[in-house]
Amino acid sequence: MSKSSAKARAHADIALIKYWGKQDEVLRLPVNDSLAISLEALSTTTKVTFDDSLESDQVVIGGQEFEANSKQATRVIKHLDRIRDLAGEKRHARVESKNSFPSGTGLSSSGSAFAALTMAATKALGLKLSTKQLSFLARQGSGSACRSVTGGIVQWFKGSDSDSSYSKTVFAHDYWDIRDVIAVVSDQTKLVSSTAGHKLAPTSPLFKARLSHVEDRLKQVKKAIMQKDFQALGEAVEQECFEFHAIAMTSRPSLFLWLPGSVAVFLAVRALRDQGVPAYATVNTGHNIQVLTLCEYESKVARALKSTPGVKSIIRSKISAGPEYL
Ligand code: DP6
Repeated sequence: MSKSSAKARAHADIALIKYWGKQDEVLRLPVNDSLAISLEALSTTTKVTFDDSLESDQVVIGGQEFEANSKQATRVIKHLDRIRDLAGEKRHARVESKNSFPSGTGLSSSGSAFAALTMAATKALGLKLSTKQLSFLARQGSGSACRSVTGGIVQWFKGSDSDSSYSKTVFAHDYWDIRDVIAVVSDQTKLVSSTAGHKLAPTSPLFKARLSHVEDRLKQVKKAIMQKDFQALGEAVEQECFEFHAIAMTSRPSLFLWLPGSVAVFLAVRALRDQGVPAYATVNTGHNIQVLTLCEYESKVARALKSTPGVKSIIRSKISAGPEYL
């Protein structure tokens, strides 16, 4: 009997410049570079065990075993197949995965999940891959996962083929103590996945306009980080967020992702700014809003969001240094 296993933890991130729309759906090549902050408080821990006594792959997420033909397990097994092909491996595997936060609500759980799966599975098979190689591989499971194999503030270079589309840390986790206060307005799973949303993006009349300036906006955001100019950073990040959601809303069919509590948080963040608190909101494909602020304002922002109508709970996060093997 032969068994080999490994365990890894990877973090979800919040995109400052969003990945939205693909050049290649199978390889998950994006139409634009993206930039994201890796989040310490949002993680997926995954253990993968290859075992020749297993007759099929087993996928357990959050303590629940999924049928092999379910949507969740199919995507995981497809990714295991990619890794088995790379290693010339025949054994089936048991995958046990757990998130530290609500999944499927727009907090990028697929990013942390496919990064942790890639790292644990390749380690269990003894593959020695560089971060760049892990990034190529994780990207094929979920685009944002190619950012989650690294930490700090991460850029995903869109590339033009599978061997040129990967992510790397562009600012270390301790370069600037930005905090993220997440307002959870619902644990309810979103109705449309990001994967489906990417396909709709080109149907919005605003999509082309975005492509003409998104690279400039990314440069602008990087410059603001370089100069530690939080206002310039926040303003660009909010504009990017609303532009991304405007594209989602004007796609056909329209993708409307917010709940009433999400709008209440946007307004609360404006009220905080009126009081002189540097706070800026953004959200991915979902309804739970992420509010960026500086370390010394984190408690004040958390208090204000906690008392905002529609907010159920708060998650506070620092920037993560990146994933780890456990
Ligand atoms: C809006 O990485 O979840 O959060 O590649 O289809 O798995 P797939 O999509 P995914 O898309 C994330 C989209 C986003 C923006 C971002 O994280 O950059």
